[in-house]
Amino acid sequence: MQKTVCIGIESTAHTAGVGIVDSECNVLANEKHSHSTNKGGLIPTELAKHHAQHFPGLIKNALEKSGLSWGEISCIAYSAGPGIGTAMSVGASAARMLALLHDKPLVPVNHSVAHIEIAKKKCGAQNPLVLYVSGGNTQVIGYEAGRYRVYGETLDIGVGNLLDSFGRELGLGFPAGPKLDEIYFQGGKYIPLPYTVKGMDVGFSGLQTAAKRKIRKGHSQTSDIADINGVGEGENIDLAYSLMHTAFAMVLEITERALAHTEKKELLLTGGVAASKALQEMAGKMCGARSVKLFVCPKELSQDNGAMIAWTGMLMFRAGHMVRPKDALTNQNFRTDMEEVDWIH
Ligand code: ATP
Ligand code: FE2
Repeated sequence: MQKTVCIGIESTAHTAGVGIVDSECNVLANEKHSHSTNKGGLIPTELAKHHAQHFPGLIKNALEKSGLSWGEISCIAYSAGPGIGTAMSVGASAARMLALLHDKPLVPVNHSVAHIEIAKKKCGAQNPLVLYVSGGNTQVIGYEAGRYRVYGETLDIGVGNLLDSFGRELGLGFPAGPKLDEIYFQGGKYIPLPYTVKGMDVGFSGLQTAAKRKIRKGHSQTSDIADINGVGEGENIDLAYSLMHTAFAMVLEITERALAHTEKKELLLTGGVAASKALQEMAGKMCGARSVKLFVCPKELSQDNGAMIAWTGMLMFRAGHMVRPKDALTNQNFRTDMEEVDWIH
């Protein structure tokens, strides 16, 4: 009997990704290339150009790595949103073209749900509360009655964007999150910053403005971590530490409240910012105090990638969620709780 294998195409933001998984979620290939700039920020048309340039090579390499031919691929999944329209439409076009060319079923996948499904599968979590933290998204999510419900979320920017924009002011380049995560452990003096929790939601823009003002007031711009070490007797390091500590305390406050409400006994971190050792340490303390088991999605699968789209495509293919190429659209505002999750029993 031929095995079920799904190829997944990711293109919602900076990363063009192509992943191939089998029915047990073995990752047979996970090729990607990310658009990056020294200054940070993004231009939507540049993203589209980047993805259009890289998809042909990524698709070819993924198939070669998997050792499979098109005849052995069962379905094609693509990221249908949320994301940046220009970038997503390149991935969706590639998926439509491949489906027509090779006569394969097409599966539109919610990008946020894909972050959750691959993390759950790879960590072995059963029914977790999910903290999904990335550049564009910050959500506390749990499965309930046929959907992934959003218990709390950011009212403005994602926590990763907060870190990246603050890092840009320090001249750390893009993405700044990983560099700031190292700097965090050099800091220690807490500088008070705005802490905005509104009910079950959080807001980062006040924190972003206040932290950036504190850099400009006291110090000249810096160009790398070494410079930061030399500036203002470590005040910028303490500022970076304080920014991260405040932002993570905010998201963990609403996470803890959701844990208390849902009585879930597992917390799963996913999305690009889940790689943060600072966040993991703070989440570990909160989970320890509540006897909740903490899971962290492996980094290569928690950042944007094609395998997570392929795995969620596999689950949805089995549940019959195929569309015709003419209906294979994208939606920039495709919220986590809009997807009907009928593959969980
Ligand atoms: P989404 O479309 O889901 O919002 P994304 O485009 O932001 O995803 P991801 O790969 O999920 O892409 O996340 C990227 C973010 O993760 C960036 O903001 C980056 O700075 C941040 N990041 C990556 N590694 C770390 C780390 N070790 N510590 C903190 N932040 C990190
Ligand atoms: Fe993402």
